[in-house]
Amino acid sequence: MPSVRVSVFGGVRVLARQTWGKAVVAAVLVLAAAESRGAGVERKTFGTMATGETVELFTLRNGKGVTATIIGWGGIVVSFTAPDRNGQLADIVLGYDTLDPYLKPNPYFGALVGRYGNRIAKGEFSLDGQVYHLPKNNGENTLHGGNKGFGQKLWSIREVAGKNGQALELGYTSADGEEGFPGTLQVRVTYTLTEANELRIDYEATTDKPTVVNLTNHSYFNLAGPAGGDILGHVLRVDADRFTPVGKGLIPTGELQSVAGTPFDFRTPTAIGARIDAKDSQLELGGGYDHNFVLNGAAGTLRLVARVSEPRSGRVLEVLTTEPGVQLYTGNFLDGATVGKGGQAYKRRTAFCLETQHFPDSPNQPSFPSTVLRPGSTFRSTTVYRVSTEP
Ligand code: GLA
Repeated sequence: MPSVRVSVFGGVRVLARQTWGKAVVAAVLVLAAAESRGAGVERKTFGTMATGETVELFTLRNGKGVTATIIGWGGIVVSFTAPDRNGQLADIVLGYDTLDPYLKPNPYFGALVGRYGNRIAKGEFSLDGQVYHLPKNNGENTLHGGNKGFGQKLWSIREVAGKNGQALELGYTSADGEEGFPGTLQVRVTYTLTEANELRIDYEATTDKPTVVNLTNHSYFNLAGPAGGDILGHVLRVDADRFTPVGKGLIPTGELQSVAGTPFDFRTPTAIGARIDAKDSQLELGGGYDHNFVLNGAAGTLRLVARVSEPRSGRVLEVLTTEPGVQLYTGNFLDGATVGKGGQAYKRRTAFCLETQHFPDSPNQPSFPSTVLRPGSTFRSTTVYRVSTEP
């Protein structure tokens, strides 16, 4: 090292030592600052299942103090905090304070949804000439993977070295025939909390027999925080020129309809509530928005597809995905009967979901992008929920 070589002159040697000392002190201070902000991963017991298995709650924290808490049960995002325009952090997702209500059927709060997110008509589809029957858990249709989808399973969960932040890797093996689906499906999901205040979700799956796969996360957001009231004043932009209109039971008709001139046109930022009760047959079928948007841009590339802002807090949520579609669900089925965090009764339209996905009922819609996964191929998908603020 040059500094060592010149240090044969006593004074220079002292100087070099001092410089080194300062550098070391500076490095220690930087580390201490990161430490005091608490960047890292913590774990604690969240609850115990009837089987005696313990479910741990992992807290991912970035250097800005933003946190996401995640459990292996259902791969559920239990909380996600975001600063408002004054730097005040609030939890922006719905859910429960304890494990027990998550173990029972619930509105899929924060859950990983699979094997097939959204609906499959009449609980059946055929693949390579063989017909498969699934449990009908939503009228005459199958919703979110059947009676016990991936959000009601215990995933393995461990801390991993994230490429770009604090990360957790979750794993689940879905047996051949589980909920009627063919093939053993090995699923891996990585949650990463980045320094850019992004909760990134990377999905991967492989199978040993041809099957269908559609994985998503079912977080319910309210950017105004836990006592935020309804989400009708949240302003939404969705980069979609078309959506998939539905019939009864919210099954797509197969058509890709232009959003132009309809309440589904969110190409310019519009309050969610501006047209939600308009006289429109699609909105009537969904009791509000419960529809899949055909996202612009190339599926398979991670691109910004939606942005939501909440005027009072200044919080902004951006959604990026590689998926071809997103389900906008405006919490139309929440009715106040579900009591969540802090004893809060979750009333109608007090949250919205942006579930990135392949289109509903794709296994029965040959013209939709395929959801078939075959042995030897790997299913890959990425979605990012990024929080920021605006003035
Ligand atoms: C999805 C569906 C909705 C509803 C919710 C869960 O968003 O599209 O119809 O089932 O899940 O309540």
